Amino acid sequence: MAAVASTVASCARAASSARVPSRRGAPGRLSRAAPAGAKSARGGSVVPSAFTPAGAKIAGVGMELPAQSLTNDDLASLVDTNDEWIRTRTGIGKRHVISGDESLTSLASGAAKKALAMANVDAKDVDLIILATSSPDDAFGSACTVQAEIGATGALAYDLTAACSGFVVGMVNAVHFLRGGEYQHVLVIGADALSRYVDWRDRGTCILFGDGAGACVLSKTDDPNDCCLLGFDMHSDGTGNGNLTAAFVSESNTEKTAKPTSESQTAASAVGAFANVQMNGQEVFKFAVRAVPDTLTKSLAKAGVSAEEIDHLVLHQANQRIIDGAAKKFGLGKEKVVSNIEKYGNTSAGSVPIAMAEAVAEGRIKPGDVVATAGFGAGLTWASAIFRW
Ligand code: ACO
Repeated sequence: MAAVASTVASCARAASSARVPSRRGAPGRLSRAAPAGAKSARGGSVVPSAFTPAGAKIAGVGMELPAQSLTNDDLASLVDTNDEWIRTRTGIGKRHVISGDESLTSLASGAAKKALAMANVDAKDVDLIILATSSPDDAFGSACTVQAEIGATGALAYDLTAACSGFVVGMVNAVHFLRGGEYQHVLVIGADALSRYVDWRDRGTCILFGDGAGACVLSKTDDPNDCCLLGFDMHSDGTGNGNLTAAFVSESNTEKTAKPTSESQTAASAVGAFANVQMNGQEVFKFAVRAVPDTLTKSLAKAGVSAEEIDHLVLHQANQRIIDGAAKKFGLGKEKVVSNIEKYGNTSAGSVPIAMAEAVAEGRIKPGDVVATAGFGAGLTWASAIFRW
C-alpha cells in the first residue's frame, strides 16, 4: 500500500514554523518565507523568483447536470428492484444521465463557465485546467476540448484519473501549483458520465450512478500564509483494484487479428472498448467505512483542526449510509452534513464539487467556514482535504 501524505504547511517548507488553526478567516501563524531571490550562505538563490511562495483561495464554484433524469421507479421497470430498496440501502431517489448532444465536455464546460463567472475570472486568464474524470469523451482526455469550449486559450489542460477521489486530488494538485507562485488561476473540474459504462441490466450497479460535473476556480494570493488548504491526506491501494473496474477489453486481441508480429501477413485495425462497471459492492462498502474516517482523522490532525471545528462535511456521495457513518464518527449533526445523493446518485468525480457548489448556492457554505472533504473509490483510491472557504 502506498501512502502520500503531507500538509500545505510542509509544502511551503520554507514558510512553516507553527500553525495556529483558526475557526474564522484568520490564517494560522506561520513564519515569514524567504523572499524571492534571497541568497543562501553559498550565494546561490534560495527561492527562484519564478517560484515565489504564494497563497491560494477558493474564488468560485459551479455545477452542471444533464437534462434527463431517471427515478427509482424508472429503473424498477428495467430491473428487479424497487424504490424502497434503493432508498433504504443507498439514499438515492433519482439520478441524471446524459442524452442527445450532451457529453462529458459539455457538462464539464458548463460547470467551469459558472465557476469562472462566480470568481469573476476571464477564461483567458486561467493558467491550468485539471479535469478529474474516468469517462472522457476521448481516450486521450477531454480537458483540452473543455479548454477550447470555454476559451481558456492560455491554459495547459490535462485529465486526472483517480475515480471518485479525483476532484479532491485535483484540488490538492491545484493548490500546490498556486503556492509555487507560478500560476494565478487554476480551474479544477470533477466530471463523470458513468452512465456510459453502466450495464443497465445489472441491478447491483445501475441504481447507483448518475452523470454530472462540478468545478472550482482557485486563485493565487500574495500572502503565503493565506491558504484555503489546511491539510490533506491521499492514498492508493492497487491490490484492491479488482473490486471496482471498467476494464479495457481488446476485441482484436481476442480475435488474434490486429497486433502485428514478425510473422504477420496482413494488417488489421486494433479494436477495443471499456467493459461495463463491475463492482463488489460489499467489499467497496467495507473499504469506504474504514478508509473515510481514517483519512479524515489524518487530514484534521495535519490541519490542526478539531472535529468540532468542522462547519461542513462534504463527502463523495456514494451511499448515504457511508456519509452518515462518517458524520457519526466525528459527532457531526445533520446540519453540518452536505448530502444531495437523493437527487443525483453517485456522480463519481463530480460528486464533491457538485455538493460544494450546491451548498454555496444555498448559502450554507460561507466565507471563513471550515469544509472537510473526502473522496474514495476505484483504484482503489481515497483522499481527504480540509479547506477554509
Ligand atoms: N434492488 C433489489 N435488490 C438488490 C439490488 C437492487 N438494486 N441490488 C442487490 N440486491 C439484492 C442482492 O441480490 C442481495 O440479495 P440476496 O440476499 O438474495 O443475495 C441483497 O439485495 C443484498 O445485496 P448486497 O450487495 O449485500 O447489498 P448491500 O446492502 O451491500 O448494498 C450497495 C449494495 C448499495 C451496492 C452497497 O454495497 C454499496 O453502496 N457499496 C459501496 C459502493 C460505493 O461506495 N462505491 C463508491 C465508489 S464508486 C467509483 O469509484 C466509481
